[in-house]
Amino acid sequence: MCMLRKTAKYYKGFMLFVILTPLLMILEVISDVIIPTLMGNTINEGVLTGRIDLVYKNGIYMIIIAVLAFLFGGISTYCGAKAGQGLGKNLRLALFEKIQTFSFASLDKFEVSSLITRLTNDIEIVSNVARMALRITIRAPFMFISATIMAIRINTRLSMVFLIALPVMMFGIMLTMKFGIPKFRKFQAKIDRINARTQENLTGIRVVKAFCREEFEKEKFAGQNQDLVKTALDALNLMIIIMPFMMLIMYAVIVAVLWFGGNFMLQGGMLAGDLFSFILYVGQILTSIMNIAMILMNFSRAKASLERIFEVLETESEFVESIKQGVSEVANGEINFNNVSFKYPGNQHFSLQNINLNIPSGSTVALIGSTGSAKSTLVHLIPRLYDVFEGEISIGGVPIKDYRIASLRDQVAIVLQENTLFSGTIRSNMKWGNPQASDQEIIRALEISQAADFVLNRPEGLSAKVERGGANFSGGQKQRLCIARTLLKNPKIMIFDDSTSAVDMSTEAKIRVELNKFNPDLTKIIIAQRISSIQNVDQIIVLDNGRISGIGTHAELLEDNRIYQEIYESQQKGMAAG
Ligand SMILES: Nc1ncnc2c1ncn2[C@@H]1O[C@H](COP(=O)(O)OP(=O)(O)OP(=O)(O)O)[C@@H](O)[C@H]1O
Ligand SMILES: [Mg+2]
Repeated sequence: MCMLRKTAKYYKGFMLFVILTPLLMILEVISDVIIPTLMGNTINEGVLTGRIDLVYKNGIYMIIIAVLAFLFGGISTYCGAKAGQGLGKNLRLALFEKIQTFSFASLDKFEVSSLITRLTNDIEIVSNVARMALRITIRAPFMFISATIMAIRINTRLSMVFLIALPVMMFGIMLTMKFGIPKFRKFQAKIDRINARTQENLTGIRVVKAFCREEFEKEKFAGQNQDLVKTALDALNLMIIIMPFMMLIMYAVIVAVLWFGGNFMLQGGMLAGDLFSFILYVGQILTSIMNIAMILMNFSRAKASLERIFEVLETESEFVESIKQGVSEVANGEINFNNVSFKYPGNQHFSLQNINLNIPSGSTVALIGSTGSAKSTLVHLIPRLYDVFEGEISIGGVPIKDYRIASLRDQVAIVLQENTLFSGTIRSNMKWGNPQASDQEIIRALEISQAADFVLNRPEGLSAKVERGGANFSGGQKQRLCIARTLLKNPKIMIFDDSTSAVDMSTEAKIRVELNKFNPDLTKIIIAQRISSIQNVDQIIVLDNGRISGIGTHAELLEDNRIYQEIYESQQKGMAAG
């Protein structure tokens, strides 16, 4: 019930159809229920007494009513489809918008494939069931009640026959539901799993090929596919058994009605026309019961899907308050970490512990440490991609929690370690950084990031096509394009998470020099693997397993930091060996 209330909100803009569908449905049912009585009358008073004019007259009425039923039914179906699709449209949009507001932490919680399944498959199921439900949840009970009343009116004693059959059918339906619903639920989970499998395989297809794992992947997929079919058949088998069972009861009821009704007729207690319309009503009653069973089945399927949709919709955005309000101007690029600790949601251990830092505005700072020492984690906290667990970070003297999220992320720009371009052109990708950027500004940014050469050498220039994920550029080219895109934001603080790892050292040095010329006040945080590329920065922070092991210049750290010495020596040796 609560689910229904929550869903109602998403019929917005389609309410008219939601109301019209059942209303027209009721008119259709009324027409459907009148027809058998008319038929009975025609037989009793027209056929049996030979009054052909009455047969004609009733015949014309019946045709008119049938046409009306057809019209009401048709328009109701159309409205139902509109309402169902409208619900789908609104839910899809809401879900997509919600996912856009997700923090990194929420994104960690849901798998991408599962989000896609929810956006497509689950919404499709809900929208289809909504369409059916609007019609059948009204039609079936209404038809059941009115047909029962009509049948009882014709002959109360004969009605006893199907009153006996009713509990048997109910029992059958309950059995189906009891065993069927869990089976359909299982089926849905299996679909989710196979989608996850497909998505993971397809995004990693190049790695799969590089490792010659096609056979292995194929077998794994085939196994899951087989499993899915088995679960589906399991659920469908139940349907296969239940349907003939229902038919059997239906025919038994009709035979019984004919037998008892025939006896009544012979005793003179019933007219042939009445028996005829009675049988038609029995048909309507039994069909309604089957429809109710079907819609209940579908409801439970849709409920599972709805729950999955609302799970996403009801995930709280961590930054609700700072999305709209807060300080919008970052005064300067000074960064302070005050006793900051952080652990990933769901993790037991802390990834960062007791971090205290002061990074003066306009300085260049490097972060170094072995892989997994939490370098990326540390910088993600600055633009609030994740929120600190303990302690506080402030920028320009203001705690980052007090900034408007969009302003903070505009002025604290980060080139992520796993960066990606989007399908479109170079220009459209650059405009991600700043939608207003002119071609000139874009070229300037490309020059700074040493990407101008390979972009402008292409005949299409800025209009050169970028494939999905930037697949048609080399690793180093992609990195330089990502730097240019970030530069266009004209930020106060720029963070490079291993962003020049695929760029040769002399190009890397050129980028550094150009950046300094471009904006000497820019605070730069550089995560690097190579000591050679950060030797001249103002401060080097050595991270070890989530803690600061030392802070100082290259010379100072070489003097007294064991970890730094080790990294330095291993890299010197590597150079000598190379
Ligand atoms: N999304 C996440 N969820 C849970 N744990 C994570 C997540 N991202 C990173 N971690 C854990 O946090 C720790 C620090 O990871 P981080 O990515 O910050 O290391 P790093 O220093 O950037 O390493 P690298 O040099 O390889 O990029 C690791 O132990 C990692 O397993
Ligand atoms: Mg990293």
